[in-house]
Amino acid sequence: MDWDALKSAAGAAKPRRIADLLKDESRAPEFSVSAGDLFFDYSKTTMSVEDRTHLVGMYQAAGVAERRDAMFAGAKINETEGRAVLHTALRNLDGGPVMVDGQDVMPGVLDTLSRMADFSEGVRSGAITAPGGGRFTDIVNIGIGGSDLGPAMATLALAPYHDGPRCHFVSNVDGAHLYDVVQDLNPGATLVIVASKTFTTIETMTNAISARDWIAGKVGAENAGGHFAALSSAVDKTAAFGIDPSRVFGFEDWVGGRYSVWGPIGLSLMLAIGPEAFRAFLRGGEAMDRHFRAADPLDNIPVMLALTGIWHHQGCGYATRAVLPYEQRLSRLPAYLQQLEMESNGKSVRIDGSPAATVTGPIVWGEPGTNGQHAFYQLIHQGTAPVPCEFMVGATGHHDELAHHHQLLVANCLAQAEALMLGRSLEAARALMQKAGLTGAELERQACHRVFPGNRPSTTLVYPKLTPFVLGQIIALYEHRVFVEGAMLGINSYDQWGVELGKELAVKLQPVVAGEAENGTLDASTRQLLDAIRAQGG
Ligand code: F6P
Repeated sequence: MDWDALKSAAGAAKPRRIADLLKDESRAPEFSVSAGDLFFDYSKTTMSVEDRTHLVGMYQAAGVAERRDAMFAGAKINETEGRAVLHTALRNLDGGPVMVDGQDVMPGVLDTLSRMADFSEGVRSGAITAPGGGRFTDIVNIGIGGSDLGPAMATLALAPYHDGPRCHFVSNVDGAHLYDVVQDLNPGATLVIVASKTFTTIETMTNAISARDWIAGKVGAENAGGHFAALSSAVDKTAAFGIDPSRVFGFEDWVGGRYSVWGPIGLSLMLAIGPEAFRAFLRGGEAMDRHFRAADPLDNIPVMLALTGIWHHQGCGYATRAVLPYEQRLSRLPAYLQQLEMESNGKSVRIDGSPAATVTGPIVWGEPGTNGQHAFYQLIHQGTAPVPCEFMVGATGHHDELAHHHQLLVANCLAQAEALMLGRSLEAARALMQKAGLTGAELERQACHRVFPGNRPSTTLVYPKLTPFVLGQIIALYEHRVFVEGAMLGINSYDQWGVELGKELAVKLQPVVAGEAENGTLDASTRQLLDAIRAQGG
């Protein structure tokens, strides 16, 4: 891949004014793409038709389409772990067989989905009760990373569709998280779902054990197991924990944690919105899969989202990207995408072991739109480092009586993208100051603070309304974007070795913190910090 040529092209594009490019009326339709319910506009970038052709050429040269087909066909493209990558099979409701090692995985996938549906319906209808006979009114999902962010994000996003028990999420090993969540709950009416693919993650197991103590304290140790379900591949470990196999929903090693919301890890979402709406969510993902596999690059939303990302990060050198959903109910989406993108593409080594040929994944961050406007947008508009912004907005909200709120939301989203692009010149700032009655040196002193450089790039994703089907499309879109970027960079987007070292050291440090082991082998800074923690009562 000729990353230097891309950088030169992006450098040459720098003097271009996006606002001038858009004077050509054909640019906006030419630099946008739609699929299913989604409309993606990337016209507010400096990318020219030639640049885009260059990017598509890079995409083709990288063999991304071949790798995509290999992924869908069950090839072991997660090479460092020797695994297939088949989260797409979890939403392959209409699809044919998917073979891994000569075996069709679809019967197992569909069987688990129907077990999840039966269990959810049972809990939702009250047919499945707590051992004491009462209804489960509350669900506590205990998991972390992909075993938390996906269901937590999607459950919040789809709040208007909730007609089941209330769902809560505990992830942090900080006991305060569990404490705060359960303090208002009745243990006798709470179902705890322990979500952990490995069933060894220390945060999750620590929280699960404390939750079991909390439940047992009320209903007795002999009944506690009846308040638990598990989402895990490690059936031996769930049994050892005391969870009945009928309440264990497993998944295979070809589902990565951050790609797992489509299967058993989505159980809390299914409990909240019901199996039918959950299936609509899956169908949204499946529709995006079909689009991703079939559409030519220029008509392909995931490909164009990825190529715009590559243009900004690897081409223009912008270090971060902001994800700015305007819906409040998408407030966990930036955190979800942080794991999806940064755990997938934050690597320095390519699949073949050679060093990455260019910078890899950007830093992804964000918050819901209008809140961000009153916080960090200052930097986005006037800071020294441009931040490509990925705006997202729904055409309508769910509450007709609050439609005027939604109009304001849409207006704000569009206004921000426009403001970033247009900026405000010194002349315009001077005119403003003049109008405010300033003159001379004071006018000059004030005007420069009101200048906006403008020409700051953004993309906007528009969807009709945040339904389960639409959310499924959005999540699958981002998954495939990560895939395309990773494939172009030549890295394995499906392992996460970078999280292991810290985990190992935490295990070694725990007895030292507890005062059960000497701190002799620690570095001077860590020893000093431990001393400070002790001095402060730790
Ligand atoms: O720490 C990284 C990670 O392995 C993530 O990839 C994963 O989503 C998370 O931990 C939770 O893992 P598990 O589901 O096995 O508890």
